[in-house]
Amino acid sequence: MNKNSALVKRHAVRAFEDKAAVDLNVLKDIVKEAGLAPSWGNSQPWKAYLAVGQTVKNIRETHFNSATNHVKGSPEVVSPKGWSDYAKNNMKQTTAKNDQFLGDDGNQDYSDFNAKLFNAPAIIYITIPKISSAYSTYDAGAFGYGLALSAYEHGLAAMTAYELIRYPKEIRDAFTIPEDEVLMMGVAIGYPQDKKLNQLHTDRNDLEKFLSIED
Ligand SMILES: Cc1cc2nc3c(=O)[nH]c(=O)nc-3n(C[C@H](O)[C@H](O)[C@H](O)COP(=O)(O)O)c2cc1C
Repeated sequence: MNKNSALVKRHAVRAFEDKAAVDLNVLKDIVKEAGLAPSWGNSQPWKAYLAVGQTVKNIRETHFNSATNHVKGSPEVVSPKGWSDYAKNNMKQTTAKNDQFLGDDGNQDYSDFNAKLFNAPAIIYITIPKISSAYSTYDAGAFGYGLALSAYEHGLAAMTAYELIRYPKEIRDAFTIPEDEVLMMGVAIGYPQDKKLNQLHTDRNDLEKFLSIED
């Protein structure tokens, strides 16, 4: 593995620096580069909404109030069938390892920083048309992953999170998003804080578990 590649360097960053705003031109480059993702027939089904400055601060504050008051999330895209046993087992192992590494204080930080939307100075929201082929969700995922990888290429860090789109109203109040688009996912971008919370190392299954080869 190439340790310097963005693919290998990328990991979830759940606490961003407060002070450092991100250059708007860099953020625009990141979105442009992510837009090079392949898509079915070059359909490019994604749209991106970028919150920075006072807008992102307002969203973070509203979100914090909802999260700390335990308001139930109402995402616009809901998994139709839940998780397979294979996925459940992967999540269980990940949570157990994270819990152990973080300890009580770190776990508190984990939820606190989710509620604070990771202190992110920039959040990019991804939408796709409400009426979409399943292939468009695949394409939007490629776009979202591109955002994260490009951020690392630019010396930044990124965080893909459900938490970011858990309360769609706070986002729709900040932007004019057409009703025929659904909020699919959010990607936060910024400079990472030097914190234990940002040092989680998640494992991946051995290749044999998810790769079948026939020669
Ligand atoms: C679609 C998606 C949603 C996620 N939602 C959250 C979230 O709401 N909160 C959180 O702390 N992490 C969230 N994560 C981060 C995952 O937990 C993380 O990517 C996973 O554990 C693998 O770790 P790594 O990103 O460091 O490789 C999300 C990741 C993805 C791809």
